[in-house]
Amino acid sequence: MSVPRFAVIGHPVSHSLSPRIHAAFSHQTGITMDYGTLDAAPTDLAAALERFHRDGGAGANVTMPHKRAAAALCESLADRAERSGVVNTLVRTATGWRGDNTDGLGLVRDLTDRHSQDLRGRRVLLIGAGGAAHGVAPALLDAGISDLFIVNRTESRTDALADALGEPARVHPRYFKDLDTLGSFDLIINATSIGHDADGSELPLPGSLIRRRCDVVDLAYGEAAIGFLAWARASGADRLIDGLGMLVEQAAESFELWHGVHPDTDAIHDELRAEYPIGSIGR
Ligand code: ATR
Repeated sequence: MSVPRFAVIGHPVSHSLSPRIHAAFSHQTGITMDYGTLDAAPTDLAAALERFHRDGGAGANVTMPHKRAAAALCESLADRAERSGVVNTLVRTATGWRGDNTDGLGLVRDLTDRHSQDLRGRRVLLIGAGGAAHGVAPALLDAGISDLFIVNRTESRTDALADALGEPARVHPRYFKDLDTLGSFDLIINATSIGHDADGSELPLPGSLIRRRCDVVDLAYGEAAIGFLAWARASGADRLIDGLGMLVEQAAESFELWHGVHPDTDAIHDELRAEYPIGSIGR
């Protein structure tokens, strides 16, 4: 019997840690699979997924820049993918691709299980309104936060994300120019891609956003998280968290969707953390 094929599809994708994470899960659970990378330019996404299916592709993770386009190619969407409008996991059914999104639950699991946070009742600031922000926002609301303030450079995208979430009592679109007036937060999440910009741009964030015992999260990890977490540390944040734990947890959720088994994440998390130590600043 041939080994089922899985892949992470992105552009570029060669840097992805997903093959390594899934190889660890495969080894740990004894579930054999062939998990590789699939580089597809945006104009080739539909054809690349079709070829992958014909070659035995049973499931895939979706990364930048395809998360929104992949949702549009799915025959069906899980509720959480429907709400976020972006997918990071594809499951092949008899008739087409089913899209799901495990990013949000991955973040919540990292915060609650690994970092022992109780998200209920927390006042949260989400910075960014692109694919990453769309992916995590529904899960934060489901985890019971009291308020989700959203700010983004392009104001129309802030409003679009708030509208899509459909919870006006808890979701508050605001603008960068209002940041001085928003008070302070229990949890601040950077979901922008600014850390990947080569020009060293910085977000215009006042230190007044950070209250006592405030936790600050950057969804990126490694070099890309340094600038934002350095701001948070200088502004007195209690705990700094990067996106490495979320990366491992979203992978575990995808693995479970494909194989029905939830792998243990600690060993591969700790192995990667030793190589990407930025998230431990200030802990
Ligand atoms: P991703 O899937 O990583 O979220 P994306 O959908 O392109 O990628 O979204 C990138 C996010 O980072 C957006 O919120 C973007 O703001 P705009 O909507 O205004 O483009 C934000 N971003 C990127 N570079 C930024 C910068 N230099 N300053 C502020 N926000 C930035």
